[in-house]
Parts: sequence; C-alpha cells; structure tokens
Amino acid sequence: MKKKIKIAPSILASNFSLFGNEIIDICRAGADYIHFDIMDGHFVPNLTFGPDTVKHLRKYTKKTFDVHLMIKPVDKFLIPFIKAGADIISFHPETVKNVEKTIKVIKSYKKKVGLVLNPNIKENKIYPYLSKIDLILVMSVYPGFGGQKFMKNQLKKIKRISEKIKKEKLNIDLEVDGGINIKNAKEVLEAGANVLVAGTACFKGGKKFYKKNISDLRKQK
Ligand code: DX5
Ligand code: ZN
Repeated sequence: MKKKIKIAPSILASNFSLFGNEIIDICRAGADYIHFDIMDGHFVPNLTFGPDTVKHLRKYTKKTFDVHLMIKPVDKFLIPFIKAGADIISFHPETVKNVEKTIKVIKSYKKKVGLVLNPNIKENKIYPYLSKIDLILVMSVYPGFGGQKFMKNQLKKIKRISEKIKKEKLNIDLEVDGGINIKNAKEVLEAGANVLVAGTACFKGGKKFYKKNISDLRKQK
C-alpha cells in the first residue's frame, strides 16, 4: 500500500528570531512534521539548537516533532530530547557505541526511532536493525548546513532501500534530507521516499509563500 507523502520542514531554514511564529505559520501552511536539525559542531561542522529549544516550541503545535541528532555522543541527550517533546528521534549509527541499546532507550519511552545514513555510509550498515526501527533517513547532502545542492547519486541508494522495505514488508518511513526542492522531489518520491525534509524550499520567500512551497513539494508525487 502506497505510503502517504509527508513534508517535514526543517526549521534550520526558518527565522530563528521568530521561532514560535514560524512553527505556527509553517504548520498552518500544511507541514506534516517539524524537522529539528540538532548539530553539535563536533559530529558536523555547525552548531544549532538543543532540547530547550524543542521544549519551548512544543506548545505551539501538536504536529510530529522529528528530531535529527547530528551529535556525538548521542546517548546522554536522548532523555532531554524525549522530555522536551520529541516524537521521532533519528541518529547516525556511527555516533553511538551500541545501536541496539540506543534504539531500546528511545522505544522504552514509546517514541519512534530512525537511523540516518550519510552519503558515504552504505545502507547495509542499518539492515541488522530494520525490524526495530520506524524510519530511515537518507542524507542527500553531507550534514551541517541548509541550502546545499542535492546529491543525485543518492537516488540509487534510496531506491535500493525502498525495495528492501517492500521486499521485507516493513512498516518503515523512508525520509530524505538535503537540497530537496521542486526540481528533484519527483525523482526522490519515485525512488521510494515518502517523507521529504526541506528547509530552504519550505521557508523561501517568507510566510506568504509557505502554503504554496509545501503544496508544490507535495504535488510532485
Ligand atoms: C543537514 C540538514 C539540512 C537541512 C535541509 O545539513 O539536515 O539537510 O535540514 O536543508 P535544505 O532543505 O535547505 O537543504
Ligand atoms: Zn535533518
């Protein structure tokens, strides 16, 4: 059964001085998830925001908070993000000592868990955990900054993972993050993704354009 297409605006591209209003406006514009790009300036070369930002923004919407941890180590921040209101926590397998253990902690709080693949990481790195996770996040840029160019060479990986999910009849969302816009969304969805993370493409032009930006992405299916 075809999975529903979900649009996950990354607030990395929003106006940080108006975070609360931006959440309200982008949700009103049709966002399915709010994607938080958490960066520590260690695992990735940029520093963004932490659990307190998630906590303060939680009151503005009931929509799914999709928290992408680009931090190392991860484990000591799991509970703060869970308590802050994260609904999905995704992490890069190379940032933890024991992937199964980290998955278990997230699930013990009844939260959804995702594993993230950087462009240079092969999909079979996460295959041992497929039966335990809810989401696979394929990076189509090297993480750190919004506004980068989509890496077309990730399309084959997205397709292979999509085929694996179908073959094993797994209920896993396939999310893609990095450089997504109306020029490449169609091929990303055709490759099998069903969740699109987009920062620049969703927030461009200001709040008058949010609804059109999101619907333009959604209709690429
Ligand atoms: C990693 C981040 C970015 C960002 C998306 O750098 O995860 O991929 O959210 O940014 P855009 O959509 O502007 O490329
Ligand atoms: Zn992200």
